[in-house]
Amino acid sequence: MGFGRPHRHFRRVDSTNERAKELAAAGAPGGLVVTSDEQTAGRGRRGHAWFAPPGSCLLYSALLRPYSGEEVPLLPLAVPIAVCEAAEAIAPVRCQIKWPNDVWIDERKVAGVLVEARPDQGWAVIGVGINIAITDEDFPAELRESATSLLPTEAEDGLPPGGAPSVRRALAALNESLERWVEAGGDEVLDTYRPRDLLCGRRISWEGGAGVAREVDERGHLVVDTEGGGEVALGAGEVHLSFNR
Ligand code: BTN
Repeated sequence: MGFGRPHRHFRRVDSTNERAKELAAAGAPGGLVVTSDEQTAGRGRRGHAWFAPPGSCLLYSALLRPYSGEEVPLLPLAVPIAVCEAAEAIAPVRCQIKWPNDVWIDERKVAGVLVEARPDQGWAVIGVGINIAITDEDFPAELRESATSLLPTEAEDGLPPGGAPSVRRALAALNESLERWVEAGGDEVLDTYRPRDLLCGRRISWEGGAGVAREVDERGHLVVDTEGGGEVALGAGEVHLSFNR
């Protein structure tokens, strides 16, 4: 399935995921992509708001249809791989994935993924926000240390003037890489995900415990060696992780 046909672009919406879900419920075809220059109520995982200054980010929601929950093994892991590849196609960066689906560059978050699936209705909306051209000063104080953008913020980073990746190029690259990764098999997703895994070998903690992250298993769970000498497999929806940067 290709993504980007049809494509609905808005100057301003509440949330591209909300628009895509509305269109999905009204019968829109698989492959639909909704983008916007600005969101007034952009949403992140776990009910958080998603910060994005107007025009500086790719705000993207794609409709996957048909989707019963079985067509794409490990969808929440396949999407951040596609985001990494799109980012690396348009900027001289190397991305990692903080399980389950945050995309990081040099220990800072550059992109997030919010998949909202309705298998009973036969579709899923894949929401992606990528920071394209935000200077450190443009981030609110609470994000300045932990967030980054594809555009280098230092002149000495070496990109020529005008060499900054554009939101439009990011859109084309993501349409292409997402098409590839929603069609990939589970083994290929895992084999590609694991070398990008930011948490592997790091000490992490969550509401229920602490330990050292070992690997992501075949179900997409994060296997952790716990402090007490045991092992636990964390499900993506279950925990909020902290780790030492
Ligand atoms: C996260 O890391 O918490 C997920 C962030 C997902 C943000 C994107 S921006 C486009 C789409 N519309 C939304 O309201 N959210 C997603």
